[in-house]
Amino acid sequence: MIIAHTIPELLRLRKAIDAIVGFVPTMGGIHAGHLGLIQEARKDNETVLASVFLNPKQFTEAKDFQQYQRDLTRDCQLLREAGVDLAFVPEIAEMYPENFQTYVEVEQLSKCWEGAARPGHFRAVATVVTILLNIAQPDRAYFGQKDIQQVAVIRRMVRDLRIPTEIIVVPTYRAKDGLALSTRNHLLSTEDRKRANSIYGALSAVMAAYENEVRDVDDLRHILRETLARGKITRIDYADIVDVQTLKPLQGALTDEAVALVLVAAHLGQTRLIDNCLIPAHKNNRADLTRLFE
Ligand code: PAJ
Repeated sequence: MIIAHTIPELLRLRKAIDAIVGFVPTMGGIHAGHLGLIQEARKDNETVLASVFLNPKQFTEAKDFQQYQRDLTRDCQLLREAGVDLAFVPEIAEMYPENFQTYVEVEQLSKCWEGAARPGHFRAVATVVTILLNIAQPDRAYFGQKDIQQVAVIRRMVRDLRIPTEIIVVPTYRAKDGLALSTRNHLLSTEDRKRANSIYGALSAVMAAYENEVRDVDDLRHILRETLARGKITRIDYADIVDVQTLKPLQGALTDEAVALVLVAAHLGQTRLIDNCLIPAHKNNRADLTRLFE
């Protein structure tokens, strides 16, 4: 694996690659979810590029940024073992030189849910992903379902700005008890880690109810919130059922053809976790996820 630290280095190496390139951007704290994205990228592409850049601008809480796992040696080792060909690991000043002043804003999709809880977050994500796609020039880029609103924002941005990269959406990788893998999970206390599985428990309850012909969105929403409460998940930022395209809360009854998105964000101790799923449950696969957000 070749490691590029600067943009000129990356551009020079990229120019020399005459092959189909898949790209997996990360902030480090590499876990099996990231490695899953890399595996998908390896299946589709001749060359796999990954980046590790802990983007300060997308953090809205100083403590969250300070606590974020940083171990570049470990991350690079894991990327190398996963079969990444080229890793881009820039310093902050390389990405944001003095006098940096240009930002990308996806107006509507950035406002709700994560955007409301973390003002400025998606503007920073859209900006850094634009920079990364501009310099990596990948044929395909891979993003996780775990951060589904991020997928919606990036997909819209790529379409609006005519960025010639195909966006692939990879289903969420989970721990045995269902908890979505996340760099922040290791910050959970033992007790909170146990409680955290109720987030997926609540998503599962909604998927199961849907399978049992519950179609009224308010009934499904009630099941979602009840299951979270029973699991003692009480500090909830949001728990809702929304339209996949607009991310607006749904009302009434779901038709048999409809696909809806179940979103949860909750605090456990000092840690904030997010998760989501599509209903019906069989839609939570790469092909359907990628198509839905096209
Ligand atoms: P990060 O949180 O490091 O995640 C990198 C990619 O891995 C994202 O596309 C994310 O959705 C995906 N991912 C994380 N956990 C996952 C899981 N359990 N299953 C499947 N995919 C998972 O997301 C970011 O970084 C940043 O916002 C970034 C896009 C790199 C821009 O800074």
